[in-house]
Amino acid sequence: MITVNVIDTNGEKESISAKEGNTLMEALRYEGKKTYVSADCGACCACGTCHVYLNKEWFDKLDKMMYNSAEYELLEYQSNFVEDRSRLSCQVILKKEYDGIEVIIPNE
Ligand code: FES
Repeated sequence: MITVNVIDTNGEKESISAKEGNTLMEALRYEGKKTYVSADCGACCACGTCHVYLNKEWFDKLDKMMYNSAEYELLEYQSNFVEDRSRLSCQVILKKEYDGIEVIIPNE
């Protein structure tokens, strides 16, 4: 298990115990005290409702998002997209080295 630290839109924090190998979206949708992302398309990389922010340190630790990937192309049309902070949580597979990751839920 790894710890995912989430900060919601009200600034409230929760530490979620998540399974390695699951997606970050699954941790945020199913394993916390509340549903942090709606993830409407069920990880098909088609809705953008699993969008999260990471601070620079954690953003750089994750596997890189390719410029022309489906994830990037969906994110860049989000009104609150931030180039070096935004990721789709359904595209991030949790690894041991991500233990302690901090995720911020963006405002709409
Ligand atoms: Fe729809 Fe991630 S759940 S893009």
